Amino acid sequence: MNGDVVTMDKLVSLCKRRGFAFLSSEIYGGLGSSYDYGHYGVLLKNNIKAQWWRAMLQERDDILALDSAIIQHPKTWEASGHVQSFTDPLIDCRTCKLRFRADKLEEAQCGRKPSKHPGETPECDLTAPRDFNLMFETTIGPVKEAGSAVYLRPETAQGIFLNFKHYLQFGRKKPPFGIAQIGKSFRNEITTGNFIFRTREFEQMEMEFFVPPADADHWFEHWLEQRPAWFEGLGIRPDHLRLRAHDQEELSHYSSATSDLEYLHPFGWTELEGIANRGDFDLKQHATYSGQKLEYVDSASGERYVPYVIEPALGVDRAMLAFLADAYDEDEIEGERRTVLRLHPLLAPVKVAVLPLVRKDGQPELAREVYLLLREVLQAEYDEGGAIGRRYRRQDEIGTPWAVTIDHQTLEDRTVTVRDRDSLAQVRAPIEELAREFERRLREPWRSPKLGG
Ligand code: GAP
Repeated sequence: MNGDVVTMDKLVSLCKRRGFAFLSSEIYGGLGSSYDYGHYGVLLKNNIKAQWWRAMLQERDDILALDSAIIQHPKTWEASGHVQSFTDPLIDCRTCKLRFRADKLEEAQCGRKPSKHPGETPECDLTAPRDFNLMFETTIGPVKEAGSAVYLRPETAQGIFLNFKHYLQFGRKKPPFGIAQIGKSFRNEITTGNFIFRTREFEQMEMEFFVPPADADHWFEHWLEQRPAWFEGLGIRPDHLRLRAHDQEELSHYSSATSDLEYLHPFGWTELEGIANRGDFDLKQHATYSGQKLEYVDSASGERYVPYVIEPALGVDRAMLAFLADAYDEDEIEGERRTVLRLHPLLAPVKVAVLPLVRKDGQPELAREVYLLLREVLQAEYDEGGAIGRRYRRQDEIGTPWAVTIDHQTLEDRTVTVRDRDSLAQVRAPIEELAREFERRLREPWRSPKLGG
């Protein structure tokens, strides 16, 4: 579909084979649309989150961090409009007992083989659409009683609005300023699938940027520029990203303008991140429901207003899928097919693999010494098992940008070969300079080799 060799089947199989992600509860047959992240998946997700925090907190001085609770006061979701409006229209088929989103019926597949929905065969017996709330409900305290119902948050954003007041005080912030957080969200999604693209439990990276109302359009444009640039800086090919503005019917209940940043996934163009102008909807709603004043007041001039909010909201899991899909590649080395993840070095789960050429002659001992030296400064991995070619392939598949090989010459002059994942170039370098050299390489601008040129 997009001219790449990558398909979802290949990605899912690589992720399982190399320990990025597994179907959750697999030994019990799996739990629909739930995934567990293995070692390299955790490292990759951590790197994505670290780069997001870096862009939000370290590279600017107008955003502060938050980590709010997953379970919030139930009034939160009444005020936010989620109890009323966070619904999908659902249709049941009485024949195959499956449930579909009314607005996605054309894409739905019926349980009976080889038949297909929507309602096109005489056996299909569809109900009228009914609204179904996507929030997971649970109870607080051991007894399920009136008033004990609470929800698992369906977005991290509301925790930010509930804490807005604190940031005016302790942060001594005057709009424009932002509050950012990363955390789990939960949605009882009906249409799932496409691996980790849409799951019921996922992590969000959301930032609410509070601005004077008159400046909202300017800041909306600012974030529409910033967010694609973040992805491109981390190696995503620009021709695989596009912004698509929502039309009036598509807008969420809180939004006056939203653009989706879309990625050209193996299954087509779909939302990667949402950038919305939420206006003053949330702060005003929470002010009404809580009876508290949620506004900015300038004590010197007496100026007061409820700030507007610009929100870039991204899923960690969805970002991971886009980075993996964009990095996936296949080529041939000396007649042998190779699968390689051409990840930006900053995102690569392991930055450098340390490999003794053979498991004798003192090479493993020296290789371990090099490994211990390197792991002080970056994520390194030591591997001595199997033929060197197979060890390179394994590192290529997990996206390790550099491999250091210790050979007989290393024992003589303390130099090693450094192999580059993408160019396959091998250069000789002294052990003592490796750490500094990799740190330098990590700071260099990087361009996806899949772009050519
Ligand atoms: N606070 C606004 C908000 O939550 P959203 O468009 O519903 O907006 C923002 O979600 C981002 O969160 C999406 O662009 C996507 O990256 C991610 N996301 C949403 N639902 C998801 C799901 N079920 N599984 C994985 N990621 C999801």
